[in-house]
Amino acid sequence: MSPAALLANIPLFQALGPDDRERLSRSIKRQVVHKGTVLFQKGEPGTTLYVIITGKIKIILPSSLGEEMVLAVFSGGDFFGEMALLDGMPRSADAVALEDAELLMLDQADFVSFLQNNPGAIQAILRSLSLRLRKTDDLLQDTCFLNVSGRLAKKLVELVEEHGTRQDNEAVFDLSLTQADLARMVGASRESVNKELRTLREKGLITIEGRSFTIHNMERLRRRIK
Ligand code: CMP
Repeated sequence: MSPAALLANIPLFQALGPDDRERLSRSIKRQVVHKGTVLFQKGEPGTTLYVIITGKIKIILPSSLGEEMVLAVFSGGDFFGEMALLDGMPRSADAVALEDAELLMLDQADFVSFLQNNPGAIQAILRSLSLRLRKTDDLLQDTCFLNVSGRLAKKLVELVEEHGTRQDNEAVFDLSLTQADLARMVGASRESVNKELRTLREKGLITIEGRSFTIHNMERLRRRIK
């Protein structure tokens, strides 16, 4: 697929007319990365916006002990790396490929001129930033007010909604997430998340096969968010 045709499928660029899309596609580079590739790390200067065509990228905050907290998992059509470009500060988090991925890259000058010429794109970026802030607020609230059981149930429901497929009350998602990743996403230890996953399995609420999670009863899982 030509770069201009790829842009037509990305929400951030959808409002562009064919000529603008063609012009922008000339400034865009494509990159294929393998699972585990570190695209950038917190604290580095950032001069590139990334847009995902295929694959999944996790955004993480590292701890001084080598642990990590997963802030977000982005997939096809999502963009990341906009913050350093907008505020001129270093990267706010690490970005790592969760699986093989194909990316588009736009450098800072082209990103700024794209925004200046497309008020619709500014709105799209603001909407995304606002949504991400809301999610981070939710995580903060949950970390303060929900126990591990509630936080895990909420995260599983969210992963189904964002990355899974659902049929009636049953749902499946298959992310390259380890149980340790899941623990970091809910801000809990791996041991407590493993224990909770065991409880959910024993209650017949979930089945885990490799990296694939099946939720057998979404309603009952939802009721555990408290
Ligand atoms: P930037 O700071 O350039 O590099 C790290 C990127 O991770 C950042 O831009 C955003 O695209 C993304 N990011 C940082 N914090 C969050 C968050 N709380 N939720 C979702 N994405 C984030």
